[in-house]
Amino acid sequence: MKQSMAVMTMMATITPEFLSSTLISTTTNGYLKTRFDFGFSVSQFDRQRRRKCLLHPTLFCTTSSSSGRVSGAASSIISNLVEEFDPEIPVERASTPPSSWYTDHQFHRYELDRVFYGGGWQAVGYSDQIKDNRHFFTGRLGEVEFVVCRDDDGKIHAFHNVCSHHASILASGCGKKSCFVCPYHGWTYALNGSLVKATRMTGIHNFPLNEMGLKPLTVAIWGPFVLLKVAQDESNKEEDVESDGSVVEASEWLGSSVGRLSESGVDDAFTLSFICRREYTIDCNWKVFCDNYLDGGYHVPYAHKGLMSGLDLDSYSTTLFERVSIQACGGGGGGGGGSKAEDGFDRLGSQALYAFVYPNFMINRYGPWMDTNLVIPLGPRKCKVVFDYFLDPSLKDDEAFIKRSLEESERVQMEDVVLCENVQRGLESPAYDKGRYALVEKAMHHFHCLLHQNLKL
Ligand code: FES
Ligand SMILES: [Fe+2]
Repeated sequence: MKQSMAVMTMMATITPEFLSSTLISTTTNGYLKTRFDFGFSVSQFDRQRRRKCLLHPTLFCTTSSSSGRVSGAASSIISNLVEEFDPEIPVERASTPPSSWYTDHQFHRYELDRVFYGGGWQAVGYSDQIKDNRHFFTGRLGEVEFVVCRDDDGKIHAFHNVCSHHASILASGCGKKSCFVCPYHGWTYALNGSLVKATRMTGIHNFPLNEMGLKPLTVAIWGPFVLLKVAQDESNKEEDVESDGSVVEASEWLGSSVGRLSESGVDDAFTLSFICRREYTIDCNWKVFCDNYLDGGYHVPYAHKGLMSGLDLDSYSTTLFERVSIQACGGGGGGGGGSKAEDGFDRLGSQALYAFVYPNFMINRYGPWMDTNLVIPLGPRKCKVVFDYFLDPSLKDDEAFIKRSLEESERVQMEDVVLCENVQRGLESPAYDKGRYALVEKAMHHFHCLLHQNLKL
């Protein structure tokens, strides 16, 4: 569910899986399950003359051009799989995407390229994290390791967080630095990304220091959020990207949902106080977590009985925008995980708003709280969800209120983790391929339509 948090932080491990290049059809108990394993990659980062797969160097791509587009049989297989979901069919008659979208390793690779490296804005952090000069933070988006920093002139930059020497991850965590020194052999980069020192390279020929800097990413801020673009479009090659840290127009990121988000107090986020970050690693595809978020409160009465007492589920509404969907629900007046309890504790307030920003970011505004959820794919069957909590400044020193709110949010989140991991196991079963939607799940259908739009060749 939406308001939630976690106490534990678990490190994720991606286990490389052996890929086959076969199409497997299995008949089990009368159900047909089809799985495509493509055996190639369409990553943008392969395009510099190397067509190898990023995770599986023995597999070579069959891309037809430097744009990363696939060709021939491979293209046909991907196309068939993508077209198993038909966005033209209205939700009343539609089936969900096939389980391969949630389980197949090569579909996942293709999805990273199209959805996450496709050039759209994605929230990755908070402007507070780079409030002062020399502040930086690092993160990961699919296989893209990034670092965002503010240089000595106050300019914001973002780079691939990979050393030009032998590819070591350069910076880790967050904090304050005057330059980035590689922990492996000491190459040193300025905060504007230029390589300023390459140790023990005397005598090496054809070594243009000024061409060995960090590869830039496009970065911008909107309100409290830091946004990144990872573009693979030919017109936006890495070497042409301006890492200019500009302020992005709200409508460019949020479309026509801006007005509704403002009315609902998301604009207040500009003035809220950051309280804490919680991270969960979940054994499910990143879309399973999003689907769970987007089911219109369908699962609340069954899976979040404590939260249910705090929500008026009859008032639940869903509104669709271009790349945003907004679910809203009134407070129910009960105690539990929700609204005002007998002792006056009121975490949710009179209305809760849950905004999903395609593809993987959620903004939840309720009572004095706002939390955001960033869903990071870690493989076809694993994701990490980062929760950041913000609170009305008048309550930021109320330790008892904060502690109790976070405990209740944590309980809801742990209930969701169980749901998501159970769904992933079911998706991997040969007994299941596609499901159906309830009308209340139209935000989920909208999400799948946007995915299809991104994925189609
Ligand atoms: S990998 Fe960074 S200095 Fe060698
Ligand atoms: Fe839930």
